[in-house]
Amino acid sequence: MKNEKYEILYRQIASLVEDESDEIANMANCAAMIHETFGFWWTGFYIVKGEQLVLGPFQGPVACTRIPFGKGVCGTSWKRRESVVVPDVELFPGHIACSSLSRSEIVVPLFAGDEVKAVLDIDSKELATFDETDRLWLEKIVSLL
Ligand code: SME
Repeated sequence: MKNEKYEILYRQIASLVEDESDEIANMANCAAMIHETFGFWWTGFYIVKGEQLVLGPFQGPVACTRIPFGKGVCGTSWKRRESVVVPDVELFPGHIACSSLSRSEIVVPLFAGDEVKAVLDIDSKELATFDETDRLWLEKIVSLL
């Protein structure tokens, strides 16, 4: 079920970004498509600017605008240069609560060569929403950007 949804989503995002070179436009449509498909609580990008992540295109409630390197789930993903799956945000030391309704989260880095250039962050109102299936597909999806 989840796999099939991701398969369709992957193809849709691939065709959406194929003819557009603007990264912000592509991130915006990518966030919208993921958000609409699964009905997540918050779906968006934070973009690396110097020593911080700065809020980029997103869908969902107002969020914090800046996250330092190594802080929160997003900053940890940036620092580790790998995806981070958090089944229960209350058990993640240093989690940054932009919304008290968020219960689980996944963050996936986007690379430009060897450098992390942004992270995709998705929040769910349910516990343990994200697993290896999400991680693999979302890594594949962000590699399109
Ligand atoms: N929870 C994130 C902060 C961003 S919001 O969830 C949109 C974190 O700990 O990095």
